[in-house]
Amino acid sequence: MSAITDAVTQVKPRKAVLEMPEYHPPLAGREALRLDFNENTLAPSPRVMERLRATTAEGLTKYPEREPMERIVAAHFGLQGEQVLLTNGVDEAIHLMCCAFLEDDDEALICTPTFFMYDVSVQMMTTHLRKVQVDATLEFPFEEFVQAITERTKLMIVASPNNPTGAVVSRAQLLAIAKAAPQAVLMVDEAYFHFHGETTMDDVATVPNLIVARTFSKAYGLANLRIGMLAGSAELLKYVRKVSSPYNVNGVALDCLPVALADEEYLAWYAEQVRVGRERMMEGLREMGVPFFPSHANFVLMNIGPKHKELLVAMRAHGVLLRDRSTDPGCDGFVRITIGVEEHVTRGLAALKVSLHEIGWSANG
Ligand SMILES: Cc1ncc(COP(=O)(O)O)c(C=O)c1O
Repeated sequence: MSAITDAVTQVKPRKAVLEMPEYHPPLAGREALRLDFNENTLAPSPRVMERLRATTAEGLTKYPEREPMERIVAAHFGLQGEQVLLTNGVDEAIHLMCCAFLEDDDEALICTPTFFMYDVSVQMMTTHLRKVQVDATLEFPFEEFVQAITERTKLMIVASPNNPTGAVVSRAQLLAIAKAAPQAVLMVDEAYFHFHGETTMDDVATVPNLIVARTFSKAYGLANLRIGMLAGSAELLKYVRKVSSPYNVNGVALDCLPVALADEEYLAWYAEQVRVGRERMMEGLREMGVPFFPSHANFVLMNIGPKHKELLVAMRAHGVLLRDRSTDPGCDGFVRITIGVEEHVTRGLAALKVSLHEIGWSANG
């Protein structure tokens, strides 16, 4: 590799940018069965593919119009257009929420381990990120979370189901958290909602500090289009809209969105594939003696122990990618496997069986 030649600059970024963590997902060389990123492992709805093929040259010349689509999406959820903001994936939604609500002396609250982008976006705005660590069960620590709320808490982000644990937080607990901190926004990240079924979406019209995030990257199979949404009080979303670009979501994604939402049959089929596949995976892990955490999402977190890296290498040699979660707090030796359609679960399980044998893994270490 040639060295980078660059003019010497005297410019420094903001202190927060120098100090914030960086997220480097392992993206290189993903030409294999991708059971590493919790994507849909097959395809989006065939109707979405049809809509994509209808993209015209003239259509591409136009700036995208987000608002009409927000009205359609809002109607789908029984909301008004102002109660929905479409975003460039939930990643951008998290970023916009932090920009809109966090001053540098405000506190934000999350539970760890969880999705790493919360860390990145919060620490861009404030150094006061409080993390409540789960115990060995990986269940959401409700009491400790509520106790960690202070009058400086301004933003709380809770994923349910959570990534990478697969644990859920009940609607009753989420509503209690929102009530316990009326000065703060509670963002419930429902990226994996379709694999679980319980939601707080129906509460956004009545709970003034609740905002729900949904993505089209997982069950809908549209991770590459980058589309997500926030639903919540029109007043709060007005501030988030203010800090977003008017063209944050591209027009191709906007065109596909109503088609994806309307094909409920496809969505139900995919969610059922995952539900059945998840049971098969958990049963297979039980048979192999691999400890795992019961999951409500499209992935399962297992405890491989000291041989976790060896397992990833062996699985890659068998054409299957897994995600090492060992550096997540409290997750030493943990590896995550995505659940997809039947054939992919079968291939994942078969590769796991051979790979565990090859690396000489046993339940006792
Ligand atoms: C909990 C959670 N939220 C959000 C995202 C990102 O979603 P998007 O692709 O919409 O940015 C992920 C992706 O892995 C996730 O696990």
